[in-house]
Amino acid sequence: MKLPLIFDCDTGIDDALALMYGAHHGANFVACTVTHGNVPVEVGSRNTVTVLDFLGKQEVPVFSGAARPLAQPLRTAEAVHGEDGLGDAKITPSARALSGDQAAAVIVRLARENPGKLSLVAVGPLTNIAIALLLEPQLPALIKNVVIMGGAVGVPGNASAVAEANIWHDPEAAQVVIDAAWDVLFVGLEITLQTALTAQAVRQIEKSTDPRAQFAANIMDFYLESYEKSFGYRTCVLHDPLALALALEPQLAEYRLVQAKVELRGSISRGQIVSDQRMFLPTPTNPKAPGVIRIVQNVDIAGFHTRFLSALGVPEEQENAQAPTSP
Ligand code: RIB
Ligand code: CA
Repeated sequence: MKLPLIFDCDTGIDDALALMYGAHHGANFVACTVTHGNVPVEVGSRNTVTVLDFLGKQEVPVFSGAARPLAQPLRTAEAVHGEDGLGDAKITPSARALSGDQAAAVIVRLARENPGKLSLVAVGPLTNIAIALLLEPQLPALIKNVVIMGGAVGVPGNASAVAEANIWHDPEAAQVVIDAAWDVLFVGLEITLQTALTAQAVRQIEKSTDPRAQFAANIMDFYLESYEKSFGYRTCVLHDPLALALALEPQLAEYRLVQAKVELRGSISRGQIVSDQRMFLPTPTNPKAPGVIRIVQNVDIAGFHTRFLSALGVPEEQENAQAPTSP
């Protein structure tokens, strides 16, 4: 059964890898909506069309959206994703025209046309989603569930000491999303950092002749170098693919509910998701209560890696496989 979803992204290398994952594993991309974030929105929109077209998904409409955050200047992340957002790999951009409407208006229209049927998967800053909530206060009742790549609960950030990039890029938007009365899962750094590829998996992707693996290897090269500074070997973290994987197969992980707020005022902590987990406080029980989010407790990383490699057409090799012995 294909999962019908709206995919809100800032494509971006790992956003592109998520599109590849979803195309192989049963995502029905009803629409892709694009936000500023890794790159300016025009660049991210073009990248989204380019990746979808490479995957043979020319039928998926792509809508451009917010060009800047709600309450701070635009900041982008070319140092991680390359000037063109796809690792400066000289991928030929698709010439397909974008669909005309504004992303937030499209999210509202599709939700109204399909009440209770669509999942919303957001892997960039949450500006489009926040605007959609402002346009249609009933949006939480119209959307089946929300899965977000974002946050760093109890671990260091990646955009600042304590803030994860997607929240840091638009903290006010994230607070609007947390305050909405819907079931929202935040797949944060506390769990996505576990998805770093092994050196062996990177080599398998790089040596594969499958066109999907070659495309991925091309765009990932820049990303691998960027992550080498943190991990000490050429790897990358699969933030956005994991979020989409959990939207498609929630049973790959276990979850818990927590109260959460976004730090909006701190001069060095703005954009941090602060989750109040003091022992004497009651554990939330209603996933749709405003201010309550779902976070990941633990995830089947081996199962996810197998699925990720299969999406690129790469058969998994056993780590430290024994050489065959002669009889
Ligand atoms: O922090 C990781 C997130 O920031 C990912 O969604 C990546 O694409 C960037 O947007
Ligand atoms: Ca992203």
